[in-house]
Amino acid sequence: MKALVADSVERMRALGAALGRSAEAGDVLLLRGALGSGKTELVRGLAGGLGCEARIRSPTFNLIHRLEGGRLLLHHLDLYRIRDARELEQLGLDEAMGEEGVAAVEWSERLREFEPTEALCCDLSFAGDAVREIAFAPRGLRGAEWARQAFGEEADVGTRG
Ligand SMILES: Nc1ncnc2c1ncn2[C@@H]1O[C@H](COP(=O)(O)OP(=O)(O)OP(=O)(O)O)[C@@H](O)[C@H]1O
Ligand SMILES: [Mg+2]
Repeated sequence: MKALVADSVERMRALGAALGRSAEAGDVLLLRGALGSGKTELVRGLAGGLGCEARIRSPTFNLIHRLEGGRLLLHHLDLYRIRDARELEQLGLDEAMGEEGVAAVEWSERLREFEPTEALCCDLSFAGDAVREIAFAPRGLRGAEWARQAFGEEADVGTRG
């Protein structure tokens, strides 16, 4: 599967913005990748593409941020600090990843059995100084459609789990 390359923070945000412009209510972006791989920068772009001007910070005490002001409501989740399944169940995932708005989930692998079946999964990795690679793995029809709407055939999305 061909990955996209972001050779600057600005490019990473531009990729996120493309996703934001084509997002539909109920869309979920699952973000995987090591510390500092650019997940939050991609969410900053996503918010911008939705027309949301709120400052995007890493959710710390509150693991979910609800960001208004854009074309659609944005839920920004960061599961890095999740300790156990019980904590995950108490977060209110159904609402955050529901039909009302768009959700972006950092450290989404920690969702385990709560991962939605319709989503666009992005794997971010380091590809040199200030360069990141983003590989897309759509889940379900909408995940693939969202990537195609945002990036055209450029994303060349495959379908793997
Ligand atoms: N091409 C790039 N794309 C994105 N970020 C980049 C790029 N080049 C350098 N950076 C830097 O890498 C860092 C990415 O940080 P960011 O907070 O987005 O990562 P993260 O994956 O959310 O990390 P964490 O797991 O801690 O939440 C920032 O300091 C950013 O300036
Ligand atoms: Mg982050």
